[in-house]
Amino acid sequence: MKISILDTVKYILSLPLDKVNLMQRKIVMIGCGVVGQGFLEILVDKKELLSRKYGFEPKLVGVSDMLKGSVMVPDGIDIPAFLEHVKSGKKIDEFSAPGAITGVDSIGTIQQTDADIMVEVTYTDIKTGEPATSHMREALKKGMSIATTNKGPVTLHFKELHEMAEQNNAQLKYEGVVMSGTPIFDLLDYCLAVNDVKEIKGILNGTTNFMLTKMEDENMAYDDALALAQKLGYAEADPTADVEGFDALAKVIILSNVVLGGNIGIDDAERVGISGITIEDVQKAKAEGMRYKLIGSTKLVDGKIIASVKPEKLPLSDPLAGVGGAINALTFKTDLSGDITILGSGAGKIETGFAIMIDVLNIHKEM
Ligand code: HSE
Repeated sequence: MKISILDTVKYILSLPLDKVNLMQRKIVMIGCGVVGQGFLEILVDKKELLSRKYGFEPKLVGVSDMLKGSVMVPDGIDIPAFLEHVKSGKKIDEFSAPGAITGVDSIGTIQQTDADIMVEVTYTDIKTGEPATSHMREALKKGMSIATTNKGPVTLHFKELHEMAEQNNAQLKYEGVVMSGTPIFDLLDYCLAVNDVKEIKGILNGTTNFMLTKMEDENMAYDDALALAQKLGYAEADPTADVEGFDALAKVIILSNVVLGGNIGIDDAERVGISGITIEDVQKAKAEGMRYKLIGSTKLVDGKIIASVKPEKLPLSDPLAGVGGAINALTFKTDLSGDITILGSGAGKIETGFAIMIDVLNIHKEM
């Protein structure tokens, strides 16, 4: 059959505008708690959009969780069926699929799967960075790209992991480690590129901001406000990390090293939490037209990083004083765009799952 040029043109014009090549990306997920499940839910809910608009087709080839067990399925795990299985409280080892291999630990799962991307969503330990750092080293050795929301490795070993990723031709993405689903690294890398950022300041912990708001607005006692924050799921597994400022400190260290180019550790920044603040302090500040906030800040002065986390009494006219509840906010002082402030949720299952989603999608686009 002879095909005319006109037929060819007609065929091309009839193609949908957003037709993109579909690429299958193999994913291994280490950790299967709230964040991991949030990510899988997004993959299910946004399946059609991900394939039509971005040409992204996920193939989940393995999941390993320290408490729930593990499964590897070379032909891909049925994600909706897997989510239903996990949510019913059953062990991951009991998930059945043709060709499934179970009972392998997290390092073995990374070694034995031929995934393109590792999603690392195990619990955060900012004192040791483990077990997440070992997972990341193992994945990078194999040239797997990484999407993570785990603050531990990025706080303690950013330079090493970043270099390892470059040497192994892999991508390392961690959008969610500072403000969960509220983007800051992509904001800096894309929208604010070319700007020089010399100073960053903000509210980096939802639990303490929520507590201070309750203590001021509702005269709620410190312990009651903490109990409510835990009940609502804002607090870390050990709330000391929140109230003593360790969680905010980790985020300040990350911002210092990743954005300002420093190389500081957790002992190089001043850290004061809110456990010394009483309801009387909060109410007294209110009567003075001031408001307590746990402020994280870092700046570059003569090539040296000066970083801290501490409660500050701000005038109500300060934009950060207006940020109430479990919301996070960050102001970047830039040379070309002036002060840029972003605020949004700093925690949450779907928000943090989204942070993984955007990292995975960006890895897919840049592969
Ligand atoms: N516990 C943290 C907070 C969660 O309250 O902000 C996110 O790091």
